[in-house]
Amino acid sequence: MLEGKNVNLRVMEKEDLPLFAEWFNKPEVFGEYNPLRQISKTEAEKMFESPLELKPFLIEKKDGSKIGFIGHFYVLHPAGRQLEIGYSLVPSERGKGYCTEAANIMVDYLFLSRDAIRIQAQTDPRNVASQKVLEKVGFKKEGILRKSFFMRGEWRDAYLYSILREEWKEPKILTKTT
Ligand SMILES: CC(C)(COP(=O)(O)OP(=O)(O)OC[C@H]1O[C@@H](n2cnc3c(N)ncnc32)[C@H](O)[C@@H]1OP(=O)(O)O)[C@@H](O)C(=O)NCCC(=O)NCCS
Repeated sequence: MLEGKNVNLRVMEKEDLPLFAEWFNKPEVFGEYNPLRQISKTEAEKMFESPLELKPFLIEKKDGSKIGFIGHFYVLHPAGRQLEIGYSLVPSERGKGYCTEAANIMVDYLFLSRDAIRIQAQTDPRNVASQKVLEKVGFKKEGILRKSFFMRGEWRDAYLYSILREEWKEPKILTKTT
């Protein structure tokens, strides 16, 4: 368990996968700026077991309620030491600073536990909330990936954001003894 002030990140277990698949399959949770994708529980399990797929953590409030997920995966190959993160919150819990806190925890965790050079994130240019989260955590906008996602019947550009290890400097929420 990675503990913050208002939220904790808990590594997802197999028994959480039905909830994860339910969120993934609901456009109102996964969001209007993510690909419309439907996955079965079996596919969610396969994803969970693959070392190259998204590793999701549950975002939980202090009362234990599950409000979303934040995940990470290696860009291309672990040897490249570059990671990417992605996140979603249930609509009723947005705009309360929870994702910013969760992303800060995840960045601390990844730089403390992996020999990663950079962590990146991609977002639809119209997704202002996600861009604000990234900027508050210290990510910088690198540029536009042209026609990067096929979403809702069209190819869309994405902003590419990143934070380098030297920009992170030290943990904001976790400690080196966490
Ligand atoms: C993106 C998302 C995770 C942000 O989570 P969150 O917990 O609401 O984020 P926070 O509360 O930590 O911060 C959001 C910031 O964006 C702002 N914001 C929220 N919705 C906004 C909107 N529609 N337009 C502009 N700004 C918005 C908030 O005011 C806040 O900024 P502030 O601190 O300057 O006030 C959430 O909106 C979500 O789950 N969206 C659907 C899935 C998604 O898009 N995931 C990201 C894909 S890249």
